Amino acid sequence: MIYHYLSPTDFDALKTLKTVDLGINIKEKIKKKQEYKPFRDYILAMIFEKSSTRTRVSFEAGFKRLGGQTIVLSSKDIQLGRGETIQDTAKIISSYCDIVMIRTFEHQRLIDFSSNSSIPVINGLSDLLHPCQTLADMFTIKEHFGSFDNLKLAYVGDGNNMANSLLLHCALLGIDISVACPKDYSPSGLVVKEAIEISKLTQANIVITDDPTEAVSGANIVYTDVWASMGQEDQKEKKYSILKKYQANKELCSFADSNFIFMHCLPAHRNEEVTSDIIDGKNSVVFVQAENRLYAQMAIIFNLLNKE
Ligand code: CP
Ligand code: NVA
Repeated sequence: MIYHYLSPTDFDALKTLKTVDLGINIKEKIKKKQEYKPFRDYILAMIFEKSSTRTRVSFEAGFKRLGGQTIVLSSKDIQLGRGETIQDTAKIISSYCDIVMIRTFEHQRLIDFSSNSSIPVINGLSDLLHPCQTLADMFTIKEHFGSFDNLKLAYVGDGNNMANSLLLHCALLGIDISVACPKDYSPSGLVVKEAIEISKLTQANIVITDDPTEAVSGANIVYTDVWASMGQEDQKEKKYSILKKYQANKELCSFADSNFIFMHCLPAHRNEEVTSDIIDGKNSVVFVQAENRLYAQMAIIFNLLNKE
């Protein structure tokens, strides 16, 4: 059986918790520069149909630090960019490598790739979901607060791939989540439905609202993301005028818990979705959050390659 990681729900709650703890363990080993090469003799291929700094470098550095080798491809480098099908590309790449990560547009491309792949496939971001980012975010939350108990996360802004993935990960781990978005930019209806189903088991309180103040009230974590995601550059002007009142600024954050942390998956646009005083201020954990991508992703690969 080949396992893929295309959605946060591809790991159940227990596996997600174990993966977070394994990531913490890997972080300790890497920080101590211990000799630790579990991925020796393994090759990771990465296909990027969109730009990336963190995902690209953290996967490559992490896999190499743990003994593996990587092949990084933009769609322009390979025949995929000249119209070869995603299905044929999957069959070919999976016959050469051990594991593959893809960053793409429509989520269906990932599903089509994985159903034709003989090796595990990881979602490095699609228009729908960004599970590697939010698993690393769960890691950062555990590291900061010590547990997932009695926490409320407020997401404000565009109901995009980050909002969707946070809904699923918070539902899985029993973190209360309030998402505040304008009605026209709400999270995916199917994802909200799935998160509500999961929350029946974990007791996470899920709220979708268009009122940012209501969402942020009493929150332990305030989270935002860009207003125009990759591929939406032509909608920038329209989206910015509608999303203005969802900016994470001092006034909005004053409704959060006094010890709140500010999170953002980055890249950020200062003084657009977040003001500089918040993202560069004392409550911000964005750079630890970015660093933790490396360790959390290595833990995901451990699970997919059955190395535990
Ligand atoms: N957060 C994130 O995925 O960053 P990149 O787009 O730089 O990979
Ligand atoms: N929502 C953003 C996340 C970038 C990491 C995008 O898809 O562009």
